[in-house]
Amino acid sequence: MRTMRAVRQTAFGGPEVLELVEIPVPEPGEGEVLIEVSTAGLNFADTHTRENSYVQESHLPLVPGAEVAGVRCDTGERVVAMTGGAGGYAQFAAVRKDRCFPIPEGVDDATALALLIQGLTAWLLYDQAHVRDGESVVVVSGAGGVGSLAVQLGHQFGAGRVIATASTEDKRALCLELGADAATDTSPDGLTDRILRANAGEPVDVVFEMAGGAVFEECLGALAPFGRMIAYGISSKEQNEVRTGKLLRRSLTVTGFWFGHCLDRPGMVAAALEDLYARAAAGRLRVVVGATYPLTEARQAQVDLAARRTQGKLLLDVSR
Ligand SMILES: NC(=O)c1ccc[n+]([C@@H]2O[C@H](COP(=O)([O-])OP(=O)(O)OC[C@H]3O[C@@H](n4cnc5c(N)ncnc54)[C@H](OP(=O)(O)O)[C@@H]3O)[C@@H](O)[C@H]2O)c1
Repeated sequence: MRTMRAVRQTAFGGPEVLELVEIPVPEPGEGEVLIEVSTAGLNFADTHTRENSYVQESHLPLVPGAEVAGVRCDTGERVVAMTGGAGGYAQFAAVRKDRCFPIPEGVDDATALALLIQGLTAWLLYDQAHVRDGESVVVVSGAGGVGSLAVQLGHQFGAGRVIATASTEDKRALCLELGADAATDTSPDGLTDRILRANAGEPVDVVFEMAGGAVFEECLGALAPFGRMIAYGISSKEQNEVRTGKLLRRSLTVTGFWFGHCLDRPGMVAAALEDLYARAAAGRLRVVVGATYPLTEARQAQVDLAARRTQGKLLLDVSR
């Protein structure tokens, strides 16, 4: 039996549940193909999956990892692929054929992976929020994987002013470098006022919010009449409740977004991905690679991600 190196968890919990193991290469099922993985992408969701606290319930034993870049074993084509939530932290992954996308000539693994789940999420947030020309957009945690791409897409999707939040000076400097017009601390204390100040004293039109808890409340307080907030993550693990009176008072919209719902709409994903690749090829999108960890350091990678120590896209080199 052919075996491979993988990171696996047989329990839910802290980083210690991630173990480097030698396990059989997966057998692709009906409609699936086997990918020889060169690089796996990390996503914040992997830390939720590890604890079984994500939108989608997880089942043990589990090889974490929602996305891989590598070569299709049946055709030899270089592809990026979405695993559906599990299977990526390994030397081989069995994935659905319709969740594989060819990597264009000249595009490296890091770019292909950054533009996949995080890039598509950033792109779809603008699509979902119906951002109109000249509107102000707040990107919470603008130096992160999704955030660093959402900041760059802002003006390209017509936003008049892009305001980012980030928890350190370095991260805020990165947001400004990537095209944000202003950057402020993600800390919830006084966040509403800081957002208003960053928008010349005016409330804002759109917020992309992924922290939850007090950050969510402060962002809601910064919205103008007809403002829209898309809640697409709960990094703080604190969920919020929204009172209808609060929405009516300023004609606000709060929308949820989960990328998982796009997985069964491969056409939607393919069109957006093509657009992202075109923007990257034209030099309009810069992928920020925060770090590449060897597979043996997957545990540390998740620790760093959850501790807010990272910027941009994080990768796992499965050959090391
Ligand atoms: N709904 C979807 O389909 C979807 C898809 C992709 C990602 N997401 C969500 O979007 C968020 C970003 O994902 P990502 O993969 O791009 O990761 P990321 O932004 O690179 O991940 C970590 C960043 O989150 C920020 N953060 C804010 N509050 C935090 C908290 N309480 N604890 C830890 N970090 C916190 C930190 O930035 P600062 O320290 O600078 O604030 C941190 O550096 C996550 O919540 C993720 O679950 C959702």
